[in-house]
Amino acid sequence: MSIIDGVKAKARANLKTIVLPEGDEARTVQAAQIIKSEGIARPILLGKAESVLESAKKQGADISGIEIIDPETSPLTSKYADCIYEMRKNKGVSPEDALKLALDPMYYGIMMVKLGDADGLVSGAVHTTGDMLRPALQLIKTKPGIKVVSSSFLMELPNPEIGWNGLLVYSDCVVMPCPTAEELAHIAVSAADTAKTLCGIEEPRVALLSFSTKGSAKHELVSKVQQATQIAHELAPDLILDGEMQFDAAIVPSIGASKAKGSPVAGKANVLVFPDLQAGNIGYKITERLGGARAYAVLQGLAKPCNDLSRGCSVNDIVTTVALTAVQAQA
Ligand code: ACO
Repeated sequence: MSIIDGVKAKARANLKTIVLPEGDEARTVQAAQIIKSEGIARPILLGKAESVLESAKKQGADISGIEIIDPETSPLTSKYADCIYEMRKNKGVSPEDALKLALDPMYYGIMMVKLGDADGLVSGAVHTTGDMLRPALQLIKTKPGIKVVSSSFLMELPNPEIGWNGLLVYSDCVVMPCPTAEELAHIAVSAADTAKTLCGIEEPRVALLSFSTKGSAKHELVSKVQQATQIAHELAPDLILDGEMQFDAAIVPSIGASKAKGSPVAGKANVLVFPDLQAGNIGYKITERLGGARAYAVLQGLAKPCNDLSRGCSVNDIVTTVALTAVQAQA
């Protein structure tokens, strides 16, 4: 069974409400039909009802029974605007600005999640990553004890001998361009949490990656990963975590044994933490394009789940991301 089949089964077992702010987008209406008919979640589409219905008609999608909310006419918009104003007034947001934001389906959807009117949000078929992330960062904020929002890619590999039955969690590949050592430590802890709650990896083994293994090279970039490893140990003393190590030392048992003898992680890592966004983003794309892996992205560290799509996403990608979001909401 693929990781996504397992995630969909989990989502069906405890139905969550997921809001889709890009409600009249062609792939989104098709995905909403599938999500409802397969019982993966209760989708809510945001937008003008006529526009959403027209898009569904054009796509031949039956969205009957799916709730459509228009922020322009919703009775909740003024409550959401008040909350945005309260949260952002010290950032120079006026009551008028807050109302304008609440009328924007992206912010309206974020406020639904923030105030518990939806369990999670999926967007990004039209909006950029930054446009989707900013309101989530500003209003949903981080989970208690976690300092930064980051991301994990679930990499499903053709070789079941690597990682956890062929599954590796890569982090962070989307959000933090240049994490500090402390931020990197928080990314590592969040990635282990994603591995457990979303992938069912009972024993996450977290490797903090570098171009050096256990002091084989000396450089300030290496020192940063060593410091992050130390901080992560302090944040989560029970977590099986080690660093700094090279990619091959992390996943190849013989190389792990020779380069990092005695490490509980080397050679058997299933969670890989990259030192910065350039390494993480390039790394997941190489694994996908040259390694034949399937890649599924989620945000982690947010107090409530919101996930981003690629603007080139397929209908199936939206369905999958909604299932992942629903399972995050269960946790
Ligand atoms: N975790 C928690 N809070 C954060 C984070 C974070 N990682 N980053 C920013 N914030 C907070 C800030 O503290 C600030 O809060 P405040 O307004 O309450 O003070 C708020 O979010 C906005 O912060 P800014 O720094 O003004 O936001 P910025 O405009 O820099 O955008 C963003 C943040 C969007 C995450 C930015 O870092 C970014 O663009 N990252 C890269 C995204 C990207 O392009 N990824 C690669 C493509 S995706 C792919 O390939 C799959």
